[in-house]
Amino acid sequence: MDLKEEEALTTEPMQLIPVPVACLRAETLTSFNLYLRTRGGQPPVLYREKHLPFTEEDRRRLEDNNIKHLFVDSREEKDYLRYLEKNLGAILSDPELPLEHKTEVVYVSGRFLMREMFADPRAGDTVTRSKAYVELTYEFLSHEKTAFSQLLRITSYDYYTYTHSINVFVFSITLAQRLGSFSPEEVREFGTGALLHDIGKSMIDPSIVNCKGKLTQEQWEEMKRHPELGCRILDGHGGVKPAAMEVVRYHHEKVNGTGYPERRKASDLPPFVRICTIADIFDALTTKRSYKGAVNTFEALRIMKKEMADQLDPEFFMSFVRMMGNP
Ligand SMILES: [Fe+2]
Ligand SMILES: [Fe+2]
Repeated sequence: MDLKEEEALTTEPMQLIPVPVACLRAETLTSFNLYLRTRGGQPPVLYREKHLPFTEEDRRRLEDNNIKHLFVDSREEKDYLRYLEKNLGAILSDPELPLEHKTEVVYVSGRFLMREMFADPRAGDTVTRSKAYVELTYEFLSHEKTAFSQLLRITSYDYYTYTHSINVFVFSITLAQRLGSFSPEEVREFGTGALLHDIGKSMIDPSIVNCKGKLTQEQWEEMKRHPELGCRILDGHGGVKPAAMEVVRYHHEKVNGTGYPERRKASDLPPFVRICTIADIFDALTTKRSYKGAVNTFEALRIMKKEMADQLDPEFFMSFVRMMGNP
């Protein structure tokens, strides 16, 4: 056995993440290596070294050879996701790109953004990055009529605070937009609140947030602080509009006054808050947690209608049911 063979056996095999060629922007530099997968279990070959440009010519040649995916080493996943986030606008407005690639990029880059926000909610660019994401996704959802149903198909049914944030955001802005009574500006402001509604959970002990069983009274009291903690984080950043702040602060209020933190009633809850509450509950019911299974859309809506009717805004709830029935 020569030295090279020995090395190959001792180093960990590379985990590869597929990258749709269509999502690579021509004339951009990547900060990650791109690999080509070879046949017959051979190690992948380096296609383009990081910091070298990926050109239109490259893209054409790959397409001519019917190569639809390149690959990234999973250790460079973060750089790839950052690249997607940075190029999100160009990707979503590319008329050549299939819708399923775009929706996937929306989901994947949103999840990455939320993962970063929750890891470091006080990072200086939290609000700017969220707003940019909200704006581009809102544009995309309002222009591509089938994007919402496409997104529904790929939403994760496993509950993670990151994917939950994306799901609640997408449900909320789509409903607000379909209701037709809000300006695009209002929906975008609201969208930032919906995306960041649970950001306060990043300040709560993970053993409580990820608790597998029932919370003790003390843990529950701590958990109930997340709306307030979220507002504090966003206040610290500045630049977050009141409509977004209200969503963060009141998304656990119920129209019959049984929610928290202030036991507000419908008349004291702005419309966007009442929309976000419905999206929040629906997503919690339709995703799997360690202590409970997920129910399907129909069952979730049935539970909400039967057991929570007095907690939810009846008109918005009916519109939500219609939206889910006709995504
Ligand atoms: Fe919450
Ligand atoms: Fe939530």
